[in-house]
Amino acid sequence: MTERIVLAYSGGLDTSVAIGWIHDATGADVIACAVDVGQGGEDLEVIRRRALDCGAVEAYVADARDEFADEYCMPALKANALYMDAYPVVSAISRPVITKHLVRAAKEFGATTVAHGCTGKGNDQVRFEVSITSLAPELKCIAPVRDLALTRDRAIEYAERKKLPIATTKNNPFSIDQNVWGRAIETGFLEDIWNEPTKDVYNYTDDPSFPPVADEVVISFEQGVPVRIDGRPVTPLQAIQEMNRRAGAQGIGRIDIVEDRLVGIKSREVYEAPGAMALITAHQELERVTLEREQARFKRQVGDRWTELVYDGQWFSPLKRSLDSFIEDTQRYVSGDIRMTLHGGRATVTGRRSETGLYDFNLATYDEGDAFDQSQARGFIEIYGLAAKQAAARDVALGNGEDLSIGGADPATDEQAPEPEGEQ
Ligand code: ARG
Repeated sequence: MTERIVLAYSGGLDTSVAIGWIHDATGADVIACAVDVGQGGEDLEVIRRRALDCGAVEAYVADARDEFADEYCMPALKANALYMDAYPVVSAISRPVITKHLVRAAKEFGATTVAHGCTGKGNDQVRFEVSITSLAPELKCIAPVRDLALTRDRAIEYAERKKLPIATTKNNPFSIDQNVWGRAIETGFLEDIWNEPTKDVYNYTDDPSFPPVADEVVISFEQGVPVRIDGRPVTPLQAIQEMNRRAGAQGIGRIDIVEDRLVGIKSREVYEAPGAMALITAHQELERVTLEREQARFKRQVGDRWTELVYDGQWFSPLKRSLDSFIEDTQRYVSGDIRMTLHGGRATVTGRRSETGLYDFNLATYDEGDAFDQSQARGFIEIYGLAAKQAAARDVALGNGEDLSIGGADPATDEQAPEPEGEQ
């Protein structure tokens, strides 16, 4: 039987050409697999038709939008996942869900190999291949752009020569990856990191410099997941979509960073993730109200590690799975309402309300009814500060006390000055 290869198919020029290109190079039959993760654009049926017209022997298409929102975006939200404190792992979380479908298609159609359209310089090749072999160790991976010399120019030439039903005009200078959690834009003139992004870079967000009137929103969470917006029930997908619209209209969630790729390259990345950033802002604030202090401090570290693992293509790894359990456990009481004002590029929290919160008005208040016994604070501080006090006393005794002179030590006078003894 002819070998079969499942190709991650987007419907665009490169992967349309890859169908025939892989067949020509390997002799294998190609099965196209297109997955909707909320990237918008063409209908799945149009994409299926094109795959077959470009020579695929089978086409597998899947609407994975709810699956992506429920099982990939929500864990990212619970982790407050921001790689390098900035990037809400938009592309990184889409690869594992696409991979699940690629592997499913490979099993369904008896394929031995999975192919993807990534280059050899990015994170996505790593994410696909590590995810593929984590789910199905027996599968092989191939990337025509990286392994079979499929360049852009050759793709255009091939599509024209074979009269493939796909546009070959080089209209977009950027490399774009988008889904419901956000949009990533790279290359082109953005590779000069001093260049400011131009207006045409953005699509999910309007210019925050000229915002419409402020938009007030109340997001209700149950155990870390948004369940209502302004009182109306929503699924995770609907919550993200609605916040993409509303926060996007206010220009919220534009991100422009130089990022450390897994492959060692620093690269300029522009993102827009209005829904993700607004939801993370709200979720983080609700955690401030509901998580116990030590749990909250530790969760920050766990969330950062989770984010790095996910960025680095380890979605299906044992450590990531273990951290999932921890994060899930922290969400037990992350329920309640967050009110925010969306305006001019910012989502500003203006109110919080939770039945399961740890905020206690009677403990916090400076007014009548204060339940906090201030007389206990003296003894607490005495013991809490004891270790540092003992160490400071030793420093002073040995002449190593903190320099108390204004502006620090003066090197010119320091030379002649005699060693100070004891306290200065
Ligand atoms: N640098 C980002 C990441 O690694 C975005 C990648 C976007 N992919 C693309 N083909 N444009 O997650």
